[in-house]
Amino acid sequence: MHIIKLNATDSTNSYLKRLFVNEDVPDYTAVVTKLQTDGRGQMGTVWDAEASKNLTFSVYKDISGYDLENPFYISMVTSLALIKTLRFFSITKLSVKWPNDILAENKKICGILIENVVKQNKFTSSIIGIGLNLNQVEFNNLPKASSLKMITGRIFDLDEVANVIINNLKYYFNILKKGQTDVLKTKYESFLFRKNKPSTFKSDEGLVFSGFIKGVSNSGNLQILLEDEIVKEFDLKTITLLY
Ligand code: BTN
Repeated sequence: MHIIKLNATDSTNSYLKRLFVNEDVPDYTAVVTKLQTDGRGQMGTVWDAEASKNLTFSVYKDISGYDLENPFYISMVTSLALIKTLRFFSITKLSVKWPNDILAENKKICGILIENVVKQNKFTSSIIGIGLNLNQVEFNNLPKASSLKMITGRIFDLDEVANVIINNLKYYFNILKKGQTDVLKTKYESFLFRKNKPSTFKSDEGLVFSGFIKGVSNSGNLQILLEDEIVKEFDLKTITLLY
């Protein structure tokens, strides 16, 4: 396992991307840093994490040997690997808030930022960025955030958790390589936050509507049973789950 340990960098995803452009990077190469000065979240947001207390790291994954129609399976694999990891550390009441926030006791404990590299219309590799709240206990202005320490009272070792995540990524990527996408999807859906519960959403046009989350499509769209009894699929960029 090749892990690059840094004291500080702008973003581990950006660091790994620069590395990958300049040299051959072995599969599962990981970059861990104590401090990110320009940590990035999904949809152009900022990822802020207290230095040295949290896991901010990225893993390089070669996916050229995978017959992937849609990169959402990388997100599923990552979510499942994180859930397996959190369970290993005795964290329960876990869910995945679509598309890829990991919640524990209904609070966000982990965020994922996946950046895919496309060559000749094929997904060739992925940079899997993971921000996991470990030992931070104060999240100013973020009442819906939590950490492993807040849940268990214990202090966690960053390297140990990173190693377990990498092993669990390998476990689920092997299932993906075997083409067992149904296994992954069924498992992922079993952890979907608010599945089959009455929920409220907001569209990107500002429309608020209700429905029941039923599952995800192969391309990662969220399937919602609407009030008129029709299941409609929504793309990640077009809706937000309010509650
Ligand atoms: C989110 O929930 O919005 C995704 C957050 C992802 C944060 C991680 S921290 C390590 C990696 N480097 C980044 O700049 N972002 C990801």
